[in-house]
Amino acid sequence: MVAAASASGASRDGWSSRSAFILAAIGAAVGLGNVWRFPTLAGESGGGAFVIFYIACVFLLGLPLVLSEIFIGRAGQTDAVGSIKKVAEDSGASPRWSIFGAMGAVAAFLIVSFYSVVAGWVLYYAGVMGWDLLQAIGSGEPFRGALVGESQEMIQGRMGNLFASPGMLLSMHLLFMGLTLWIVARGVGSGIEKAATWLMPMFFVLLVGITIYGAVVGDMTDAIKFLFTPDWSKLTPAVMNSALGQALFSLSLGVAGLITYGSYIQEGSKLGSTSAAIAIADTSVALIAGMMIFPIVFAVGLDPAAGPTLVFQTLPFAFQSMPAGALIGFLFFVLILVAAVTSSISLLEVPTAWGIGERGWSRHKSALIFGGGAFLIGIACLLGYNVWADVRLLGFWSLFENTDILDTVDGFTGKVMLPLGALLTSIFVGWKADQKMVQDVTGLTGPMFGVWRFLIAWLCPLAVGIILVTGLFPSVLGG
Ligand code: PHE
Repeated sequence: MVAAASASGASRDGWSSRSAFILAAIGAAVGLGNVWRFPTLAGESGGGAFVIFYIACVFLLGLPLVLSEIFIGRAGQTDAVGSIKKVAEDSGASPRWSIFGAMGAVAAFLIVSFYSVVAGWVLYYAGVMGWDLLQAIGSGEPFRGALVGESQEMIQGRMGNLFASPGMLLSMHLLFMGLTLWIVARGVGSGIEKAATWLMPMFFVLLVGITIYGAVVGDMTDAIKFLFTPDWSKLTPAVMNSALGQALFSLSLGVAGLITYGSYIQEGSKLGSTSAAIAIADTSVALIAGMMIFPIVFAVGLDPAAGPTLVFQTLPFAFQSMPAGALIGFLFFVLILVAAVTSSISLLEVPTAWGIGERGWSRHKSALIFGGGAFLIGIACLLGYNVWADVRLLGFWSLFENTDILDTVDGFTGKVMLPLGALLTSIFVGWKADQKMVQDVTGLTGPMFGVWRFLIAWLCPLAVGIILVTGLFPSVLGG
């Protein structure tokens, strides 16, 4: 374990190097958001125009916010609430700004609860495909397609069967949350950093490998056309809204995650290039994930706009007729699982750090309280697919009239809490924080500082404010 002297002089866990931080932060950013949500949204929104607008959001709004969150953590050297308080005090601003740190911790806690349920589906599919692969190997045909002998209805019906089984959903959720909790409880150096150091290289190897496979056996030309040829008529306000929201989610913004991770940086101040590395890596992975998935979808002539079931219903069927589909299908779900783990630990770390920093709890106790609590909320989410299918948590609100429990928690955090967190972050760092301190801590100078300042102080509040309002009152968009 690497310990460093924090501002208070007490010993605090932290990253062992700058590259360890970058790897862990990329691990946090790259997750279900990149390999499941991004292809889903790009597919549903018709591709090119969504993708190009998304990239603009990442670099004009996301990147300045990434830098701002890391700045707060680096300057504060403690949990999100404590770090914001410290920056506020040193800047002569009200310590009450720390409310957005507390809100971020609540959002991270809620997100990890349903994130673990979705990761549980991935775990289940990894199991199904892994079992199929074993059978393929056993029958002397290790390179056959996946799930041979099953009809399209049978393969696609697996998801419905899974959703109808609270016991199976619960077991998978328990396994995944247990793993997340175990890593977080081990600490920053020997838990989170170690997991990222092992899992991220594995993720990249799988990502590149499966993408090359897709390029060889699938239809890459159509996929690239779909992803990058803009049809601007498809860029409706609703699509822009979802692209902006996706950029925040994918970069892990608005939940104080990067404040928390940034607080474990012990030295160095090249925060500008560090932030750029995170944003570039996260966006590249989302694009490559698109170039991994769509060639396979198009090769089999399936619908790219399948929605959230694209990965779970469309792809397993596509793998049936692909060479070595059993093997690649299994590896594909392992890849998603790996991405999900390094993100879920970053989510659980936010409230855990809060318990340690603000309540004085031990790491074990704090992780157990929040991991356990999120596990329970996750149970409610998964029961929303079967025994509680009629429950509408926020049914009084037209936005959530028809959404099940998981989608309600997802929608409320994504449409309300995350943009609000990002909005407050940009106002706080752009207008309240002492700009001399920002320059000292981030190492940003000259025109770069000027550009960043303009984006964070003017463009972010405006654009994120618009997402928030249009997300909450979709009627503003006329639909
Ligand atoms: N960025 C992660 C993803 O894309 C999700 C996440 C959100 C992680 C917020 C941490 C904090 O899957």
